[in-house]
Amino acid sequence: ARTVTRDGDGVLTVGGISVTDLAEEFGTPAYFLDEADFRARCRAWAEAFGPDADVFYAGKAFLSRAVVRWLKEEGLNLDVCSGGELSTALDAGMPAERIAFHGNNKSPEEIERAVRAGVGRIVLDSFQEIARVAHIAQGLGTRQKVQIRVTVGVEAHTHEFIATAHEDQKFGIALAGGEAAEAVRRALKLDGLELIGIHSHIGSQIFDTSGFEVAAHRVVGLLKQVRDEHGVELPEIDLGGGLGIAYTSDDDPREPHEIAKALSDIVTRECAAAGLATPRISVEPGRAVVGPTAFTLYEVGTVKPLAGLRTYVSVDGGMSDNIRTALYDAEYSVSLVSRTSDAEPMLSRVVGKHCESGDIVVKDAFLPADLAPGDLIAVPATGAYCRSMASNYNHALRPPVVAVKDGEARVIVRRETEEDLLRLDVG
Ligand code: LLP
Repeated sequence: ARTVTRDGDGVLTVGGISVTDLAEEFGTPAYFLDEADFRARCRAWAEAFGPDADVFYAGKAFLSRAVVRWLKEEGLNLDVCSGGELSTALDAGMPAERIAFHGNNKSPEEIERAVRAGVGRIVLDSFQEIARVAHIAQGLGTRQKVQIRVTVGVEAHTHEFIATAHEDQKFGIALAGGEAAEAVRRALKLDGLELIGIHSHIGSQIFDTSGFEVAAHRVVGLLKQVRDEHGVELPEIDLGGGLGIAYTSDDDPREPHEIAKALSDIVTRECAAAGLATPRISVEPGRAVVGPTAFTLYEVGTVKPLAGLRTYVSVDGGMSDNIRTALYDAEYSVSLVSRTSDAEPMLSRVVGKHCESGDIVVKDAFLPADLAPGDLIAVPATGAYCRSMASNYNHALRPPVVAVKDGEARVIVRRETEEDLLRLDVG
C-alpha cells in the first residue's frame, strides 16, 4: 500500500504528488505522511490479531485528530499517556471505551477526567496509583476497569534482550519479590476497581519475538498464581508495544502476523498447561504503525566539504524536528529526491541549523557530489517520535504534517508560526 515512488524524472512522489510540488505548496521542512500506507498498516495489525485480541495504537508515536479518525475507521484502539493525548482522542471522536490510559505519574485531575470519560482501561503503574484510582472511581460512584503494569525483568532492544531479576527504572511493579502479586491482592479488594488483566511492555525497536515470549511466559505465571491464590482468572493480558521498523537497510523487522502468532502460541500453550482459559491478548504498537508511513523533506542549504573528513550538508530543520539521532544515536538514511544525479557519492553528514554540534539528522550518508543549495533531500521513516518529540529549540517553528493520498495533500497539523511562539510569551 506504500505509494512512495520515483516518477520518470527521478523525482520522489507520494500519493501521486511529486516532492517538488509538495515543497512548493507546503514549504520545508515538513513531514509527509502516506495515508494509504497508514491505513493499510492499521488493517494489517487488526487482521493479524483477529477478533479475539485488541490492538491499541500508541499515540505517543504521533497523534492528531486525523490519526484518531483513521484508527477509529480501521478498527484500532488507542493508548494515551497524558491528559493532552486523552483530549485529542476524545475530541476526534474515539469512543472512550476504546482508550487505554497509561503513565507512571498521572495526576489526580487526569485520572478523574479519564474515569468520567469512561475510558476502557487505566493501566496502574504503582501501589499509590492503585489506591488513587480506586479512591477517585469510588468517589464518582463507579468501578474503573484497570490493568496492572508489571516489570517482567526483560529488557529488549533490537536483536538482544536481557532477562534479569531486577530492572532499575521507573515503570511498573516488579514481578520479582512478589510485588506484583501484592498489587493484585490490593486491587482485588478495592470496590472502585475492576481488575481486568496484567500489562507488560519490554522495550522498543525490537526485531526478535523471543523477548515478548519470555515476557508472556512470566505474565502467565502471575495469572496462574492469582488463580491459585484468589480463585480468579484475570481475563486479559497486554504485551505492550515495541516492534521495530527498518530505518536503514540493515534492519530486518518482524511483521504483525509473526508477532501475533508468536504471542498467541505461547499464551495458549502455557495457559493450557496451567489449566487456565486463554486470556484476551492486546498489544500497543506505535512505531510499527506510523514510523514507516512518513518522511521528512528538507531543503539543502550550506554544503561544506571538510578536506579528508566528510561533507557537512546543512538543512533547514534539524534536532528540533528529529531529536532521535542526537538523543539515541539513531540511524537514518537520506536521499536526494528532487532530481537524479550521476555524480560520485560523497561521504556526508546531514546536520540542522541549530546552535550545537550535536545537531545531526543523519550521521553517515552518501549523497551525490554535485549536491547544491536548493536540492530537496528526504529522510524516510520519520513518522514515529519525530513530530511528537519536536521542540522549539532556538525558536524553531515546528514543521507541519501533511497527509497525502490519491493525488491530494492535506495539512493535518499546520506549521507553527512566529505568532504562535509570541502568543505564549506574555512577559
Ligand atoms: N506501550 C507502552 C506502555 C509504551 O511505553 C510504549 C513506548 C509503547 C506502547 C509503544 O512502543 P513502540 O511500539 O512505538 O515501540 N521515543 C523513543 C521511543 C519511546 C517509547 C516509549 N514507550 C524513540 O524515539 O525511539
